Amino acid sequence: MGTILTLEHLTYTYSPDTPFEKVALDDIDLSIEAGEFVGVIGHTGSGKSTLIQHMNGLLQPTKGRVLFRGRDIWEDKKKLRQIRFAVGLVFQYPEYQLFEETVEKDIAFGPTNMGLSPDEIKGRVREAASLVGLPEALLKKSPFELSGGQKRRVAIAGVIAMRPQVLILDEPTAGLDPRGREMILRQIKEYHTKMGNTVLLVSHSMDDVARFASRVLVMNRSRVFAYDTPEAVFCRGGELREIGLSVPQMTMVADALRQRGYPLPEGIYTVEQAAQALLLLFRGGDAPC
Ligand SMILES: Nc1ncnc2c1ncn2[C@@H]1O[C@H](COP(=O)(O)OP(=O)(O)OP(=O)(O)O)[C@@H](O)[C@H]1O
Ligand SMILES: [Mg+2]
Repeated sequence: MGTILTLEHLTYTYSPDTPFEKVALDDIDLSIEAGEFVGVIGHTGSGKSTLIQHMNGLLQPTKGRVLFRGRDIWEDKKKLRQIRFAVGLVFQYPEYQLFEETVEKDIAFGPTNMGLSPDEIKGRVREAASLVGLPEALLKKSPFELSGGQKRRVAIAGVIAMRPQVLILDEPTAGLDPRGREMILRQIKEYHTKMGNTVLLVSHSMDDVARFASRVLVMNRSRVFAYDTPEAVFCRGGELREIGLSVPQMTMVADALRQRGYPLPEGIYTVEQAAQALLLLFRGGDAPC
């Protein structure tokens, strides 16, 4: 499917030439292939939100370029609108941006801006609501009557309804209870499997990233620390700990068992992988890897 987003020498400085000057992105090079599920992880302040806001042209690079399907998104400012439809961004705490009188109108806001026909908009609103698990009965309600998790899903549906080629979510589970978190993560995963689109998910949880991502992007101090498969990234447990990040729980379990003399393979990061490796070990088969 090819490369969908490319960042070339991307640098971004907040408040340049003031005492508050802050280089939030420092010479970033990155290529994201279409169809990947990218988990973005890193400390608070490492540059995750600044990075993703460049991908749909909300922020303009101080230096360097952002390419969408090989074209510089800033080349023609009139086309930026199209980029914002193609690269959909769900902000952190997006429910604060709900403002319409009904859920339906809120989800329809993006598609309406795209100038689609009323029938098309109606179809997209229903499709998006169903993709995020919102029952039809809620469409006529006011967003303010909904629970926190439902509001979050309305906001996500509003972006999905634009059918973006890339869906970016900045910590979509922040502040939700465990059940709400799990539902949203599963729905995002299902959306990815069903649509085959590119998804970027910013998360503070290594375990969530380990469960869902096909590629892991680790940000550290305004730079890319790693961009690779989960296996390859979580094999660098020592380095991750050095920059103050952890590894998924199952990677820790496998490390601890290895230290106790059980020859488990490297690159374990999910419960399924750990179970399979242990079964192989106790059955006396050859371990993979
Ligand atoms: N509007 C702003 N003005 C000045 N500095 C900013 C602004 N927004 C972010 N920064 C700074 O830029 C750096 C990167 O911030 P960013 O929000 O991209 O990090 P993050 O990885 O998303 O963090 P978090 O995990 O807390 O969301 C931080 O040092 C932050 O303080
Ligand atoms: Mg952030």
